[in-house]
Amino acid sequence: MLTVKTKSDLRQALHEARLAGHTIGLVPTMGNLHDGHLQLIRAAAADCQYTVASIFVNPLQFEKNEDLNNYPRSLESDMGLLAEAGCDLLIAPDNAEMYGTRSSMKTHIAVSGLTQNHCGKTRPGHFEGVATVVTKLFNLISPDQVYFGLKDYQQYRVIEQLIADLDFAIELNGLPTAREDSGLALSSRNSRLTSEQRRLAPVLYQQLQQTAELIRRGNQDFRRLESEASQSLAACGLKPDYFNICHAMSLEMACQHDKDLVILAAVFAGDVRLIDNVSLTI
Ligand code: PAF
Repeated sequence: MLTVKTKSDLRQALHEARLAGHTIGLVPTMGNLHDGHLQLIRAAAADCQYTVASIFVNPLQFEKNEDLNNYPRSLESDMGLLAEAGCDLLIAPDNAEMYGTRSSMKTHIAVSGLTQNHCGKTRPGHFEGVATVVTKLFNLISPDQVYFGLKDYQQYRVIEQLIADLDFAIELNGLPTAREDSGLALSSRNSRLTSEQRRLAPVLYQQLQQTAELIRRGNQDFRRLESEASQSLAACGLKPDYFNICHAMSLEMACQHDKDLVILAAVFAGDVRLIDNVSLTI
């Protein structure tokens, strides 16, 4: 696997892959890789002839007082894992390479509608940061296929909309959430959980499944189900940020005639923010 730090080295490597007629798969990440990321790499390597990963902890998608500085970084071990999973090229730029000097970046990509609620409410500007960096990566790499995990369901929908609206000729692949045996969704943030928080964390997925089951059995009192789920998460020691039953495409709060649903949830275990979701059709 080749690792590059600059856009010009990236362009050079991609030029050679394209001359060889290779299809290009991209897996954007912020590093501290776990098996969920590696599943994306393996899927890209199976579908495409040349697999590119990016590792960039994107400051634009963190609020000032958020966990940018605490975000776990492990470039050396990530490189070994990527190579083993079949990645051909890693781009790991620093902030100056990605954005130039602080004041030089004037363009930001905002996807309206899908980004106001859920994580967008708690983390204003987050999805604008994601959409901006993802657009830059799409322009720099021009992949044929891109791979994202469905754990970040709202992010997935934002990227799906962005690809359609900005006419990127890219096929989007969303892979199911990778989980521990306990049901806890794999996340780079899990490494910051204490052993007590790690014991509590699987309750989030259990609650999502329980609520999904009540809906499948015919309960359509969505607002009541949301508030009962939040109360029960709090009673278990997790601090709910939101627990929302939504329309799977618009991400608006679900109404009774909606058939395709997604339950989106975020909780705090101490100061570690965990998100998860369950999709269902009724
Ligand atoms: O999901 C992530 O890790 C990040 O939001 C992404 C898509 C790599 C953009 O920084």
